Amino acid sequence: MARRNHSSWPLSGAMLVLLFAAAQGCAPATFQPGRSFQRCAALPALGATLYWTYHAANGTAELAFRAPQSAAGWVAWGINTERPGSMVGSSVFVASPAAASGAVSVLMTFLESTSPGLANGTLKLDVPVAPVAQYTAGAYTVYVTVALPGNSTRQNTVWQAGALSGGHIAAHPMSGPNLQSTMTLDFLSGGTGTGEPNFVVHRRT
Ligand SMILES: *[C@@H]1O[C@H](CO)[C@@H](O)[C@H](O)[C@H]1NC(C)=O
Ligand SMILES: *[C@@H]1O[C@H](CO)[C@@H](O)[C@H](O)[C@H]1NC(C)=O
Ligand SMILES: *[C@@H]1O[C@H](CO)[C@@H](O)[C@H](O)[C@H]1NC(C)=O
Repeated sequence: MARRNHSSWPLSGAMLVLLFAAAQGCAPATFQPGRSFQRCAALPALGATLYWTYHAANGTAELAFRAPQSAAGWVAWGINTERPGSMVGSSVFVASPAAASGAVSVLMTFLESTSPGLANGTLKLDVPVAPVAQYTAGAYTVYVTVALPGNSTRQNTVWQAGALSGGHIAAHPMSGPNLQSTMTLDFLSGGTGTGEPNFVVHRRT
């Protein structure tokens, strides 16, 4: 049998490769084991950050949306396939505590109106990998893989945070930053209306 001397790979398990293309924007971040992202953008409202890797070959983006929130609240990220700057017409991933277990569950729903029904599984997006979410250190992180609609790298993105009422997702505040949480993002160039994103910490294991 072949023998391999693993000790000849010094540090390979623990090496952190820090790739900072610029100093502003996103702080170094850690993710679930096995996940890393090439780019990020500090979003212009609600203290949220989007991390992503765009795969041109199959038109998908793997991303992590992270937003500070009370563990008794919800956060959401999504893409509006119909128009920019609007909640209505968005397909969103909503992270909230599952009532029974307290674990974080992800609702995948299309927002058909300003009082949406929030039925699960109504996305107008192709989601090739089931999303997962976690709550750690005062923030939700939602991990999403999505085929970018129309295979276009430029998308109308939305995000949000709100409270629960009786364990259910309740309406978000209707003022201030909660009405500023939309952005057009080019997943290829990283271009946004609000500043250039940065490359992020890459964890190689
Ligand atoms: C898309 O392509 C990337 C890189 O080639 C690959 O890692 C990823 O698994 C693919 N995604 C899907 C959903 O096929
Ligand atoms: C998406 O577009 C890229 C380049 O723009 C192309 O290489 C790729 O084949 C397209 N993928 C799909 C699934 O249409
Ligand atoms: C939505 O449905 C998916 C599976 O189809 C499930 O994994 C997820 O937990 C559901 N979300 C909620 C909030 O029930």
